[in-house]
Amino acid sequence: MNAPRRLAVLIFALALGACSPQKAEPLKAKAPAGPPPALAWAYPDAPEAPLPDYPPGPQHLPGIDRVVSSAELNDPAHPVDWTPDRHPAPPAVVGHRRPGGPAPCAECHFYNGVGFVGAADLAGLPAGYITQQLAEFRSGRRVSSQRANRPDTEEMIAVAKGLTEAEAAQAAAYYASLPRRPFVRVVETDVAPAARANHWGWQELIPDAPPQPLNGGVVEVAEDWPRMLLRDPRTGVVAYVPRGAIARGEALVRTGGPAAQPCASCHGADLKGREGVPPLAGRSPAYLVRMLWDIKSGARSGPAVAQMLVPVSDLTPAQIIDIAAYLGSRTP
Ligand code: HEC
Ligand code: HEC
Repeated sequence: MNAPRRLAVLIFALALGACSPQKAEPLKAKAPAGPPPALAWAYPDAPEAPLPDYPPGPQHLPGIDRVVSSAELNDPAHPVDWTPDRHPAPPAVVGHRRPGGPAPCAECHFYNGVGFVGAADLAGLPAGYITQQLAEFRSGRRVSSQRANRPDTEEMIAVAKGLTEAEAAQAAAYYASLPRRPFVRVVETDVAPAARANHWGWQELIPDAPPQPLNGGVVEVAEDWPRMLLRDPRTGVVAYVPRGAIARGEALVRTGGPAAQPCASCHGADLKGREGVPPLAGRSPAYLVRMLWDIKSGARSGPAVAQMLVPVSDLTPAQIIDIAAYLGSRTP
């Protein structure tokens, strides 16, 4: 670096340091590192693919005594609620888009807080943790380490920015009150169904394609895509993980891996979370892998997540996958 350039960098660094965090949005010294090749599957490049269509005509789901018209299904302001009798009455923000308001939570997190493939599950997360995360999405301290290609994270950021404080608190109280339920099936294998990225940047099966070697990665797709697309609240995801991943992950979680900080020391003895700390058991492996890398890379930053920096600092990509496979396989 030549001298004037060095001086300019120094002045810039000083200016950054002088910036009061109260006055400006926090500035990042450098962009977070994108995922390494071994984790690229968790951040598939979202192609300019068309949005999937609902099947034409009225729809029903097995075991649910209800027929939904195609107009109801396609109403962007009100995601269909198939089982209103099986959850508490949701606050408006969960199920209705007010004029000019954000997309309703249930569109992606369902009314029972189980994640659409690619989104996080919210049922039973601590309320304080949910409101804190909404604030982090708003503040810019929670982005994706592969920001340009993550339409789903961008959508969540847009939702958080569109919420009033009251709506955020109501949505958090609602989802925190719901019971956690299993929605992930973890399968150890060498070959998995072939998958590709879809419009939102998450994996979906390639119809009629032959199975592919997993090569140390993970394929995580909707267990039943047509039912997931209709937002059947009883559906979930299947994650194909490398052989041996669950046992290796269990050892890492127990010992705390290279940092020797057992995950349960903060996330609760059964990994089901506690005040301010989210549960890890039974969560989507693809989501967990993204979060562990986003935290490690600094894409998720701020005071609360700082506690995670030591536990993730020396984890290798393969260890991150093993940990996520084990956690996903636990009963939530
Ligand atoms: C358009 C889809 C969409 C909508 C609508 C949406 N979310 Fe999300 N949400 C996501 C996605 C995708 C993620 C995961 C982001 C990532 O992987 O980086 C997420 C993550 C979250 C998280 C983080 C969970 C964790 O464990 O840290 C919270 C909290 C959350 N959403 C709350 C809400 C609430 C409350 C609403 C309604 C006010 C809402 N979301 C509406 C897509 C959505
Ligand atoms: C010193 C306490 C501590 C330890 C040890 C710890 N965590 Fe965490 N972890 C936290 C806190 C606090 C958060 C919530 C951060 C926030 O509010 O943004 C968190 C968040 C996470 C998240 C994000 C979850 C979500 O809902 O998005 C994951 C994944 C995670 N931890 C995994 C682990 C794993 C795996 C280990 C063990 C290798 C571990 N943690 C060890 C304190 C800890």
